[in-house]
Amino acid sequence: MRIDVFTLFPEWFDWMERSRPLRNAHAAGSLELCTFDYRTTTPLRGGRVDDTPYGGGPGMVIRVDVVAAALEGAYGATSRAPRVVVLSPRGRPFDDAMARELAGEDQLAILCGRYEGFDERVHAHLASDTVSIGPYVLSGGEIAAMAIVDALGRRLPGALGNDASLEQESFSPALGGGTEHPHYTRPPEFRGWGVPEVLLSGHHGEVERWRRDRVGSGPAVALQPGREEGQGDGDPDRDPDRGALGGDADRRADARPDHDPESDAG
Ligand code: ADE
Repeated sequence: MRIDVFTLFPEWFDWMERSRPLRNAHAAGSLELCTFDYRTTTPLRGGRVDDTPYGGGPGMVIRVDVVAAALEGAYGATSRAPRVVVLSPRGRPFDDAMARELAGEDQLAILCGRYEGFDERVHAHLASDTVSIGPYVLSGGEIAAMAIVDALGRRLPGALGNDASLEQESFSPALGGGTEHPHYTRPPEFRGWGVPEVLLSGHHGEVERWRRDRVGSGPAVALQPGREEGQGDGDPDRDPDRGALGGDADRRADARPDHDPESDAG
């Protein structure tokens, strides 16, 4: 798959193909990441790419002619562009299903905005999709593009050491779209925080059942006993994960040296 990122900051993406797992996908020939700088192809003097909004108001808007020139520079004509994703907080929410869908494309263009975003005609006439990575406003699309490139790239052949990791991970169809079970590793006890006994028992069937019971529908914090209200009552009787050594989620959080219990809203 080739992913073309259009941005004012192409060098920000340099690290992506150098770091695993995208480096693996690149080495396997399944990912090519290209960047395009709007300033290289802008028809405006002095490398300008934006203008003030019609009707007034704060901020600057990236011009439609600048974006069209960037796409034409890359593909010859905007009609020959691949699927074009424009990033905006008012786009369709990016999720795992969309990651799977987009990772199936041979080529994808991602347009990063800055300032107040793009002239609406970019969305209407040049883009195939408008996508948001969450209900908050970033300073620009670059971090959103990195999140999407990462989520797509790790799905490509050769990216992960074990492709089974993809099948059983959070939001996968195998987990019914739920979040994955918690993970533990050595040591079995640390500062009195234990590991659920079943995981140390060697009973594969029991371990499987324990994991299945912990497939969740929300963020991991909602699975932490006593934290449903963001309070954490620390009641050990309500903590099914409490092992023989007595670890629990509340003490785990409270023991962090920089942890302020007042500010832990979950
Ligand atoms: N640009 C600014 N905020 C964004 C967001 N939440 N998602 C995608 N692009 C953005």
